[in-house]
Amino acid sequence: MDIINVDYSESIPNNVNLHEDRRVLRALEGWHPGYLTWWQDMGPEGFQESLVYLRTAYSVDPRGWAKFDYVRMPDYRWGILLAPPEENRKVPFGQHLDEPAWQEVPGEHRAMLRRLVVIQGDTEPASVEQQRHLGKTAPSLYDMRNLFQVNVEEGRHLWAMVYLLHKYFGRDGREEAEELLRRRSGSADAPRMLGAFNEATPDWLSFFMFTYFTDRDGKMQLHSLAQSGFDPLSRTSRFMLTEEAHHMFVGETGVGRVVRRTCEAMKEAGIDDPYAKDKVRALGVIDLPTLQKKLNLHYSLSLDLFGSEVSTNAANSFNAGLKGRYQETKIDDDHRLENSTYPVLKLVDGVIKRVEEPALTALNMRLRDDYTNDCAKGLLRWNKIISTAGIDFAFALPHVAFHREIGEFKNIEATPTGEMIDAGAWEKRKDEWLPSREDGDFIASLMKSVTEPGKFAGWIAPPIVGIDNKPGDFEYVKIEH
Ligand SMILES: [Fe+2]
Ligand SMILES: [Fe+2]
Repeated sequence: MDIINVDYSESIPNNVNLHEDRRVLRALEGWHPGYLTWWQDMGPEGFQESLVYLRTAYSVDPRGWAKFDYVRMPDYRWGILLAPPEENRKVPFGQHLDEPAWQEVPGEHRAMLRRLVVIQGDTEPASVEQQRHLGKTAPSLYDMRNLFQVNVEEGRHLWAMVYLLHKYFGRDGREEAEELLRRRSGSADAPRMLGAFNEATPDWLSFFMFTYFTDRDGKMQLHSLAQSGFDPLSRTSRFMLTEEAHHMFVGETGVGRVVRRTCEAMKEAGIDDPYAKDKVRALGVIDLPTLQKKLNLHYSLSLDLFGSEVSTNAANSFNAGLKGRYQETKIDDDHRLENSTYPVLKLVDGVIKRVEEPALTALNMRLRDDYTNDCAKGLLRWNKIISTAGIDFAFALPHVAFHREIGEFKNIEATPTGEMIDAGAWEKRKDEWLPSREDGDFIASLMKSVTEPGKFAGWIAPPIVGIDNKPGDFEYVKIEH
């Protein structure tokens, strides 16, 4: 079997020898029409007939795995791709440390493992649903293409999880796979499983913030699952991470280009004061304090995805060898965490304090800290654009107690600097820290579609290089009218 190159002769491209696994092949072929119906109903609205310059994975070789070509999205070859197996891989943490990695589901941990796969799987189609209307207001064909690339790959990530469900979980796996197509982002009766995936993505700035902050939660979760003792989950997560890198690139460069355009317009107009909101907005660009508010919103929603700081579920899935820490194999400790502690921010007698907790139950907090460190890197680059332009302003991540719905701080209100305030003060001041209706209306007023090749909306700078080294005026999407 060729595990590097993908077999495209099958109805479902794959590098898992599907043609020798008739049961799973039939199950996936049974699921496929429902998936396509979901894509037609909930995928990018108005562009299903357009030719989009997309990359498709044809290999899992890290040196070159994608081919670019024009594709109609419903014809995209969603496949099942697992990273190559590591020889003699061992369970890298937990009670089963150093036992051979499992190629089948360990019976005692089956329910826990299924839940991890379903939760990951549920986020993938959710973001496609959240973003489905954005094509109509794309600031350029370049951006439109990136949106659609992210969308088709989230679709592929759904396939990745559905493969695991069909192959390893029998009848209840099949039922879970159906449910993944039934739930809908934001639906009252069948919502997606996690909060941030039921929020609206009303505009392109939200899309960039989402791909920066929320896809990065996905990155952290996939890193933890890539450590899993259940080898098929590890391998599928590893390949998903290579695709996920592009999603975060879209977010980081997207926000960076908005920042750059705002700074340029301010310079041209001779405006130094970043808080001169009306003057800046009159230039048709988004003022920096409003960008900070959007950042506050998406960062705090994404923090909630890590769950409670202290969690026995997290401890159980670590002990079971199912979900490890970020870069587990590079950490120098016992990988069992029997006696160690980890500092957790908690509310103690009404004061936010750092408290040592058993490291095992503090795993969510640890992953969230790793996430925060990863988030901070992009802010440094955005701030560099601002300081280079000579403008006195810098983005900052809000305090973890700010605007939280889950965990230690869900019942209190705090400012972005972590000062606790009462509900009345929060109500009065929240529009200073989170996008107000007026901010939303202003951003919405800028969302006009630009579809001429090489042209960009006035609120965002062009990218420095094209996709697949294409020139600036490349027609990334051939829109079918
Ligand atoms: Fe994904
Ligand atoms: Fe993603």
